[in-house]
Amino acid sequence: MFTSSLLLLGLAVASAVGVAQKPIAVHTDAYSSYDAGLFRPMEDLSLLSTSGFTTLGHPLFPNYNVRIKKSEFCDGTVNAYTGYIDVEARHLFFYFFESRSKPEEDDVIFWTNGGPGCSSSAGLFMELGPCRVNDVHNVTFNPYSWNEKANVFFIDQPIGVGFSYADHGEYVSTTEEAAVDVASFVAIFFEHFSDFKGRPFHMAGESAGGRFIPVFASTVYEQNAKLIAAGATPVNLDSAMIGNGCTDWKAMMSSWYTLMCQPTHLDPISDISTCVGMKQRLSRCEKWFQEACYDTSDAINCNAALAFCATITDGPFNAAGINPYDITKSCTPEELEDSLCYPIMKKMSAFLDRPDIRKTIGVDASRGNFSMCNMEVNARFEAKLDHIFPTQLYISALLERGVRVLIYVGANDWACNWVGNERMTLALEWTGQDEFAAQPLREWKVGGQKAGLTRSAGPLTFVTIDGAGHMAPYDKGEESLEIVKRWLAKEEL
Ligand SMILES: *[C@@H]1O[C@H](CO)[C@@H](O)[C@H](O)[C@H]1NC(C)=O
Ligand SMILES: *[C@@H]1O[C@H](CO)[C@@H](O)[C@H](O)[C@H]1NC(C)=O
Repeated sequence: MFTSSLLLLGLAVASAVGVAQKPIAVHTDAYSSYDAGLFRPMEDLSLLSTSGFTTLGHPLFPNYNVRIKKSEFCDGTVNAYTGYIDVEARHLFFYFFESRSKPEEDDVIFWTNGGPGCSSSAGLFMELGPCRVNDVHNVTFNPYSWNEKANVFFIDQPIGVGFSYADHGEYVSTTEEAAVDVASFVAIFFEHFSDFKGRPFHMAGESAGGRFIPVFASTVYEQNAKLIAAGATPVNLDSAMIGNGCTDWKAMMSSWYTLMCQPTHLDPISDISTCVGMKQRLSRCEKWFQEACYDTSDAINCNAALAFCATITDGPFNAAGINPYDITKSCTPEELEDSLCYPIMKKMSAFLDRPDIRKTIGVDASRGNFSMCNMEVNARFEAKLDHIFPTQLYISALLERGVRVLIYVGANDWACNWVGNERMTLALEWTGQDEFAAQPLREWKVGGQKAGLTRSAGPLTFVTIDGAGHMAPYDKGEESLEIVKRWLAKEEL
């Protein structure tokens, strides 16, 4: 609840704007007519054309098409593909990079940035993708890209974000609605490209991805029953990976106070009188929030609670001139507004407006200038109070079903910080809760050097990354990749 500016690879908070309602149609009959005998999957991606899209249909998903092209792009050492999954009049854009290691064997990772409303091209071009856009004409190879060890997707979702669009202005306004498109996307991909069928699949995301990913992974998990019933292969969902996620808003609210007023790995930010004022109101905020938002989901009362809570930490924090994504750095309100405190944001947008790049990835110039974050999408999710859903319940449910969950957190973030994430993981109610909570935080290392702290039990791992902010792979690429490699290999951090 950052009142003035829109923070947004982080979370949002525009004031809700009125948006005309035009709900989407959800297809309940999409799984009914599979005939494996008639359908020939594409199988080999490398047969695709670089000059234009190949359109693929599938009898199991009569309302969906894939438009995909080969795009020699960004990496240079592997095959890269871009395209759309068309869900009737809704079109979800994706980038797909094969693994630099063993594309024919390696796991598949799905990545989304947060917002809600922000494009996953931020993850691709500044964090964990094969190339980094330093400037509009200066793009360099990223040796710490996650496709070092996995086949990786970046998807612009929900509809309206990045290059994704709808023909007639349809939109979604909750994570649960967005999950329907994402789960279909995932099923369609594996059905068409059967080389990847059955591969361990990991759903990863950052920031508001702490809300998206648990719901998306749960939807993919549940969809498997329908796939099996229709005679298709289920998706081998192995894990959810959440980076600097805001999952449990209540845990986050108390953590903002903690970072500002108590010693953590850093000194308190605020002065004593400010902290005293905050503390006086914090317990009222927490109690009100619990009742109005989590227990009763009473929208009017919950909004009032949120407005009250927002006065506690946001005002003092905003006044401090600190980068909310990295409290070791300063950032003026103007810089926050202009580029979210990261000048590279504007460079990535300029790169994606280049006509040659548009041609390579198959995005029509008529799509207009690229926006890293779509604030209308953001406002719709806000208006539905989507962000304050107790999404930790989805995480518990995934853990109970053996889906592994990784919570990794750049330690210098304020927005979706490690303190709130640690509290969330400790409070998760699931069969392994006591065992997890009994573990001490221990150091983990890269090349003999301490890289952060970790705690793990069974399918759940929590890990911090020293020296990293909200976009951890941007700040600490090597350490982030190391976590991913060990996680995919099911090794201890
Ligand atoms: C491109 O950006 C990198 C990283 O900022 C820099 O080291 C390099 O000198 C730049 N190259 C050119 C040609 O400007
Ligand atoms: C798109 O960007 C270009 C270059 O920055 C600018 O000249 C143009 O006015 C923009 N178009 C729109 C519709 O904003």
